[in-house]
Amino acid sequence: MILETHNSNLYFDGCDTIELAKEYGTPLFVMSETAIVDKCQELKKDFLSQYENTRVAYAAKAFLTTALCKILEREGFCIDVVSGGELYTCISAGFPSEKIEFNGNNKSEEEISMAIDYQVGRIIVDNPADYQVIQRIAREKQKKARILFRITPEIKIDTHAHISTGQKDSKFGVPLNDSIFYPLIQAAIESEYIEFLGFHFHLGSQIFDNQPYINATIKTLDLIEEVRKRYNYTIQELNVGGGFGIRYTEGDSPKPYSYFLEPVMKLIYEFFDSRDLKRPSVVIEPGRSFIGESGITLYTIGNIKEIPDVRTYVSVDGGMTDNIRPALYDAVYEGAIANKMNLERHKNVTICGKCCESGDILIKNLCVPNVERGDILTVFNTGAYCFSMSSNYNKNRLPAVVLTKEGKARLIVKRQSYQDLIERELV
Ligand SMILES: Cc1ncc(COP(=O)(O)O)c(C=O)c1O
Repeated sequence: MILETHNSNLYFDGCDTIELAKEYGTPLFVMSETAIVDKCQELKKDFLSQYENTRVAYAAKAFLTTALCKILEREGFCIDVVSGGELYTCISAGFPSEKIEFNGNNKSEEEISMAIDYQVGRIIVDNPADYQVIQRIAREKQKKARILFRITPEIKIDTHAHISTGQKDSKFGVPLNDSIFYPLIQAAIESEYIEFLGFHFHLGSQIFDNQPYINATIKTLDLIEEVRKRYNYTIQELNVGGGFGIRYTEGDSPKPYSYFLEPVMKLIYEFFDSRDLKRPSVVIEPGRSFIGESGITLYTIGNIKEIPDVRTYVSVDGGMTDNIRPALYDAVYEGAIANKMNLERHKNVTICGKCCESGDILIKNLCVPNVERGDILTVFNTGAYCFSMSSNYNKNRLPAVVLTKEGKARLIVKRQSYQDLIERELV
């Protein structure tokens, strides 16, 4: 049990959250190593040990620190990065470069050079221009880049538009128009500096239905068949992305990985087996579903403002600088007063941040007990896309991160100091 209550205080992974807030200050991200390792076990049980030649490339954009790289390495997972910064973090942590996969719709020449110099395991080519630069830099370095093409599968999903990526009108992926797609494939097959391994798709995020994955797989298998016919070339790898939904609120009903992956694997195996072809490697890239439920945020409550007959605003010492998701795409979170867990909740309030934006609202409606200045608010399931999207807006300092493990906690990211905020400034 990750969440428990003792003496009216919320405990997370065996740690008293009120003590954590006292010791490390707030806002504070608290990540549970116990929950992360449990998730690794779940992925091994549901996917990696079920099918040969499969990999999990954790999508680092959801949350990335050196300490997490060490856990992922120990568990034998791969990492999907999308920037020089994420790549650098992994390499500095000693993470094996061959287990790194590099995505991104606009990789710079510097980033591509880094990826080739470090000899990352895969570069996922996002569009024809991306391909040109990758192949040119590989040629200049006289190296061979191992690539997959990310395709736009033209599949719409039922999620917020800002986290939907697989539709035809998307900035991500190679368009499937014959005149764009096939010349690109042919060039990759013929290039001395490219090892063309296969295809990649990613449909979006916070998805609860397996049908879009099934549809995208069918579409990709059709492309694989057409590439076989045209070039007598069979791909060796298929990456079906991430996007698996998690529970933020009661209304969310997440499904096990097997619900998404069983039908996908069945389709892939049927296709390859029926043609007597070697089955490909299959890779998934979970981000949110891997890390989202392993983290909480702790805040200290400050000013409380009642507007009679309108609403009560309860302010916290963070906000959109440590969780931009409610402002960015109306994400909804649950929370609780961590030092008053046993008190009856009777009042609806709005939790707002301290940033100078009216949109800086963390939770529109939260039912709380009698709430006072100095109480500690916890927001649940903030492990994904909160710390990684944090900003210094209003020159607020980035929060600290602690990692818990069965009652023990250690600091893995220090809180920024005021000096850090001006460190790079020149007069
Ligand atoms: C290419 C790619 N793979 C994986 C992910 C991870 O998605 P999620 O966190 O929803 O699992 C993303 C998210 O944007 C992505 O763009």
